[in-house]
Amino acid sequence: MRSSQGQYSLGREFFVDPAIFGREQETIFSQSWQMLGRDDEFAKPRAFRTAMIGGQPVVIVRGDDGRLRGFHNVCRHRGAMIVEAGQGCLEKGSLTCPYHAWSYDLTGKLIGAPNMIGVEDFSRENYGLKSIHVESVHGFVVANLSNEQVELASWLEPLLTHLTASSAEKLICARRIEYDVRANWKLLFENYSECYHCPTVHPALNRLTPYRGASNEVQDGPILGGPMSLADGVETMSTSGKLAGGWLPGLNADQRRSVNYFTVFPSFFLSFHPDYLLVHRIEPQTVDSAHVVCEFLFHPDTVADPKFDPADAVEFWDLTNRQDWAVCERVQAGARSRAFSPGPLSELESVVAAFDRHYRKAMKL
Ligand code: FES
Ligand code: FE
Repeated sequence: MRSSQGQYSLGREFFVDPAIFGREQETIFSQSWQMLGRDDEFAKPRAFRTAMIGGQPVVIVRGDDGRLRGFHNVCRHRGAMIVEAGQGCLEKGSLTCPYHAWSYDLTGKLIGAPNMIGVEDFSRENYGLKSIHVESVHGFVVANLSNEQVELASWLEPLLTHLTASSAEKLICARRIEYDVRANWKLLFENYSECYHCPTVHPALNRLTPYRGASNEVQDGPILGGPMSLADGVETMSTSGKLAGGWLPGLNADQRRSVNYFTVFPSFFLSFHPDYLLVHRIEPQTVDSAHVVCEFLFHPDTVADPKFDPADAVEFWDLTNRQDWAVCERVQAGARSRAFSPGPLSELESVVAAFDRHYRKAMKL
């Protein structure tokens, strides 16, 4: 077992230096898979959403041919951002730049460029939108800006048992909550990686899953985490401790008695509960702020039940999330001080140590 022995938390500069944040955008976020939503958000032809990946605007859109594609949201004329930030369904089967009206079909081909006839060496074929990798995996839409051929098959492999047992592909988002957190994105990852803080920060959570009941299943690499055992009589993480939806079919006895928490470097957390899958998408905004999208995915049979109400789970996690963001913001505030220096990590923080090791490796430090 890898331990945290002798390891210290990251230095102050990693939380406050905009130059390091810029390098992360290039080295990490522009070179890895980012989760942009669920398949059902893009179900219809012309469904689209914009996003920022590694600080760069992109747009994902389903074509009239049914294929989902992703492009840099940058006009090939003089570089204007083409699609206004947002999500929805396009009225027509093309994207038109609002500056000089160059227009592109949903495969990215330039189909209209007013007043360009006769311009020397200009040919529409050479000015299509630049595409990005977009795939669907276990019901999640993911994108990758890398110019290289990128591998997807083995990426979520360590989570395969959980993704399959919870039928992740079929699950439906019953509730979404968004947060703006005034803290560096890594503080959110580090915080999610340990329950050392649970007795002090989350008394309610600690009653449902006492913090000593945590163990690690994946301890090295981009995916980290493991199970926490539910206390006797507790069925899931909810305010009442009772199930908020039906059991997810396919869970074994152990999975019904535990919550399995994983961080997926560098952009989301997946937390497998007996009756739902909790997703946190972390979108870094600046060196000291992040946007978080938190979604509650339930089985379609549960969602179809007219009596279903996810409030018990949603309220529980909304409270827990806010408690977490508050301590992350406290660390961010501390990191602004020149007195901040890395402290030693305990055995209860071995996953924090593993996250920091992976981060350093990804940054080639
Ligand atoms: Fe888009 Fe000119 S910048 S048409
Ligand atoms: Fe917490």
